[in-house]
Amino acid sequence: NRAAMQGDVLAKERRDLRQQETQDKASKEAAKTDLGQEWNDPMAGERRFASDLRQQASTQKAIEMPEWKKIATGKGDMGKRTNMSMEEQRKSLPAYKMRKQFLDAVNDYNLLIVVGDTGSGKTTQLTQYLAEAGYGNRGMIGCTQPRRVAAMSVAARVSDEVGCRLGEEVGYTIRFEDKTNDSTRIKYMTDGIMQREILLDPELSKYSVIMLDEAHERTIATDVLFGLLKKTLKRRPDMKIIVTSATLDAEKFSSYFNECPILTIPGRTYPVEIMYSREPESDYLDSALTTVMQIHLTEPPGDILLFLTGKEEIDTSCEILFERMKALGPSVPELIILPIYGALPSEIASRIFEPSPSGSRKVVIATNIAETSLTIDGIYFVVDPGFVKQTAYDAKLGMDRLQVTPVSQAQAKQRAGRAGRTGPGKCFRLYTESAFQNEMLPTTIPEIQRQNLANTILMLKAMGINDLLGFDFMDPPPTNTMLTALEELYALGALDDEGLLTRLGRRMADFPMEPALAKSLIISIDLGCSDEMLSIVAMISAVQSVFHRPKEKQQQADQKKSRFHDPAGDHLTLLNVYNGWRGAGRSDPWCFENFIQPRNMRRAEDVRKQLVQILDRHRLRIVSCGRDTTRVRQALCAGFFRNSARKDPQEGYKTLVEGTPVYMHPSSALFGKAAEHVIYHSLVETTREYMHNVTAIEPKWLVEAAPTFFKVAGSDGAGMSKRKKAERIQPLHNRFAGEDDWRLSAQRRQG
Ligand code: CDP
Ligand code: MG
Repeated sequence: NRAAMQGDVLAKERRDLRQQETQDKASKEAAKTDLGQEWNDPMAGERRFASDLRQQASTQKAIEMPEWKKIATGKGDMGKRTNMSMEEQRKSLPAYKMRKQFLDAVNDYNLLIVVGDTGSGKTTQLTQYLAEAGYGNRGMIGCTQPRRVAAMSVAARVSDEVGCRLGEEVGYTIRFEDKTNDSTRIKYMTDGIMQREILLDPELSKYSVIMLDEAHERTIATDVLFGLLKKTLKRRPDMKIIVTSATLDAEKFSSYFNECPILTIPGRTYPVEIMYSREPESDYLDSALTTVMQIHLTEPPGDILLFLTGKEEIDTSCEILFERMKALGPSVPELIILPIYGALPSEIASRIFEPSPSGSRKVVIATNIAETSLTIDGIYFVVDPGFVKQTAYDAKLGMDRLQVTPVSQAQAKQRAGRAGRTGPGKCFRLYTESAFQNEMLPTTIPEIQRQNLANTILMLKAMGINDLLGFDFMDPPPTNTMLTALEELYALGALDDEGLLTRLGRRMADFPMEPALAKSLIISIDLGCSDEMLSIVAMISAVQSVFHRPKEKQQQADQKKSRFHDPAGDHLTLLNVYNGWRGAGRSDPWCFENFIQPRNMRRAEDVRKQLVQILDRHRLRIVSCGRDTTRVRQALCAGFFRNSARKDPQEGYKTLVEGTPVYMHPSSALFGKAAEHVIYHSLVETTREYMHNVTAIEPKWLVEAAPTFFKVAGSDGAGMSKRKKAERIQPLHNRFAGEDDWRLSAQRRQG
């Protein structure tokens, strides 16, 4: 099985290369068309797709069709879309038939598991039933979501149904964004936010009910909340906990939650015909887009849902599809092309729910967010290339990394199911039936068993939970993963020799960000540069990028960006941008002129304000270092010493920890510069491992920052010059190899 998966990964790498070529081709094509200045209008892209289509006439282009093998059952005519009122729609959902049983069960039990197909109304309806039954009068009804976009879009939908403004009776909270007020009764939030709230108030006294939604996704935060809420329940016998899942592992959930009852919402799904590729696809992206076109041109009405792995791939596909449609001219029906992924601003996201005008068809190109968290009506066709991008701990890099991996059988079934909600549908699987049967795992491995746990462990320790091995996990993380995280926190100074939380660690836990960034921020106070570090941390945490680089004006944008470049690297470049923006009175025209995204700057400013509040709460000083930004780089070393690399004489860089080859990202201020030692914020994998947000450092800062982690090589003599010694730094990687005892004894003492 594993060998087969590995084979698949190799095939995937080849596909990636092909894909890169396709992307390059697409961006070259796109660069040819002048699309105009439209970057302050996020909707312009989509409008362009549709309007251009109508205007442009050109020759018919032949479309190749992948060979399909029909295997599965279920035939029937396409259903008809209905035009119901909101009230009728609510009553038509499968959950409505179970309304009474649900409320009775919640009344009778503290813990309840609800299972129902995606789209049956669990997320949007159950919270409303609870509010209607009065649960909102003695506390809030909280509902967690694994994803930010889901929390926002579901809250918007429910506030529509309730008939209130978003942020009043119905609201949401995601990191750095709180849309609730004193009147809020139904609150949607990410599971990460719930985790932070339980850290501050373990009894969750503001809530009467907590619904852990989408529990089948098994995110780390949800898994940890399972255990924490079981504890809370012991102290709050009046509290109600509802766990919902779209899949059938309910028995497992029930036995974990004290054999609690399971309520099943009977499904209302239509048969979905499954088609497999006859041969493995050499280029899944290309065959996916060809399949979409094929459906559009030959199949009866009904919208299409295509699953891809991430933003870049989705954006590229939208462009390619648009070009292909354009080439077909005005004689073919309109195809409305809509992307959806986590980072998309919410106003675009809501467009995917709008029905397509008659005579047209929409294709929604989504990440696995549309697998279960979001339900789009009117989908009759699903195209499933069989891949998903997920984070997994990469031992070689010593950090989490996004990786494209094959989906599990359970995910594939879930994806196919999305085509059978409105009527009988079709699912095109771009892999062979034998790959499905023999190469895919039956279910996805829970995050907690594959990701870095430093953040989670810091949080648990901050809650006073020291006996991690004894924590009531539904599926415990591998001991090794926990030890790695403990080591990381120890090196950061968050834990002491005995594995207990230090004052620094307690403080780090109060900042809603990765431990390394929190450490840098806290250390910057002592180093007298917290004013600068706040801006940098805000810029990094708030948005993916503040730079705007439109395809048709890349050179101009790059040239403007280079004016902000700091010789010491990207973190200080971000600081220059922030200061420039502030100096220009936060003006939008200044942003446009400098190819900076004003919306993202305002968001960064908002995050900065929230961080200032946390510092104020802890009475921590905000001090500026003025021009002496060396200290900022030292503070960065205090957090990111693990992410350090040294220039390789051959090419690129090698990480100091494992000697893994990494490269300077072309967008970095240090690209093409001679920086010998650097630290980076993250690695981005495209064709190679690229360092993202890189800063030049002096190696001795690393030793100062993490004396337990680094030692100076040859410090025990051997005729090396002082300078050489200072430069040849090795991580003390085996520090723990012979010292298992400190961990075990720490564990024992806690237990
Ligand atoms: O949680 P579950 O998957 O069981 O269903 P849901 O998310 O509550 O969705 C129930 C219905 O609400 C869907 O079938 C959609 O028709 C509608 N909905 C919507 O129109 N817009 C949203 N943002 C979310 C749901
Ligand atoms: Mg749901």
